[in-house]
Amino acid sequence: NTGNLAPTPPMGWNTWNTFQTNIDEPLLKGMVEAYVSSGMRDAGYQYFVLDDGWMTMERDKNGDLVADPKKFPNGMKAFADYVHSKGLKFGIYNCAGNKTCAGYPGTRGHEYQDARLYASWGVDFLKYDWCNTDSLNAREAYITMSSALKATGRPIVFSLCEWGNHQPWLWAKGVGELYRTTGDITASFDKDKNVGTWTALSVMSILDKQPVIAKYNGPNHWNDPDMLEIGNGMTFNEDRAHFSMWCMLSAPLSAGNDLRKMSAQTQSILINKEAIAIDQDKLGLSAFRISSDKGLEVWVKTLADGGLAVCFLNRSVTPQNISYSWKDHPFKNETVNLDVDFSKVNYKLHDVWEKKDIGTTKKEFKQTIASHDVVMLRLSK
Ligand code: DGJ
Repeated sequence: NTGNLAPTPPMGWNTWNTFQTNIDEPLLKGMVEAYVSSGMRDAGYQYFVLDDGWMTMERDKNGDLVADPKKFPNGMKAFADYVHSKGLKFGIYNCAGNKTCAGYPGTRGHEYQDARLYASWGVDFLKYDWCNTDSLNAREAYITMSSALKATGRPIVFSLCEWGNHQPWLWAKGVGELYRTTGDITASFDKDKNVGTWTALSVMSILDKQPVIAKYNGPNHWNDPDMLEIGNGMTFNEDRAHFSMWCMLSAPLSAGNDLRKMSAQTQSILINKEAIAIDQDKLGLSAFRISSDKGLEVWVKTLADGGLAVCFLNRSVTPQNISYSWKDHPFKNETVNLDVDFSKVNYKLHDVWEKKDIGTTKKEFKQTIASHDVVMLRLSK
């Protein structure tokens, strides 16, 4: 790998959140078409990633993985070629253990063999999970697969998925381009869901785990708070709060909804270019929470052009009126070298969802924010 495969957070679409292992070529071709026709590709989404469930239950007699011929009758190379022909990059999934989480053959002991196979198919992205890994050392297992991918000579983005248990933010830089920081997300704003042996995490509960690791985020080594649940059952306000916060965090943006059936509202969130520009800001800094009071939070992110992104997040169940006097709220944060005193500098304000200019920081900012919603502003001098 060149070491510069993800200078900004990777953007794409992944099968898992909507389809789990129920995937096949006709369904996925429809998804690729919708990816292009909906404007997702033009908005900057690039990867098309197959998660768990693409292969047969056994390796072949040479020990190679096999694309399930019922799901992919033309083989995986043909499907990868199709994805590439639409101007997208192709991603695939496996697991560091003996088996994947859904019980398909894992990569343990076949790292170089699998990497060569992926490269021969034209794979551009590998998500690498962490089920059935008894006695494996996480850092070593991910380094082995990273080395195997590098040995192919093909640039392949490496997405680590060990759920944050082994603190990958401390060691994954240079091993892979992104690493999951938590367990799995679910389409719920602030209530975790018990799903048998594990807990699926709400958007807010994942968000709350990000500030302490914010300082590790940056180009080619992204903290990954998991894939997006936009369009998967939350309200419009909740969806746009979720999207806004992932953009504030400089998170990888991996949509996980059925692109063929998305509503105009869902689409307007996923392809909001101003929000995406904040996510893709080339400094790659994660936002920090500058205040939190009765469910109303203010998050701030420093941008490469000298401006700031500011997000007011209403986590409470009632609307909140804000009257925010900028000069009474200096922004100070040593990690990102931020020191703004609004009594001395004036910024212009632009509302990212309303897509309009709304004055300057000289004036008090007054607005009502709906429950579970945001106001996201871009400040520039
Ligand atoms: C666990 C991961 O965290 C999910 O994102 C998904 O890849 C599943 N495994 C697939 O089995």
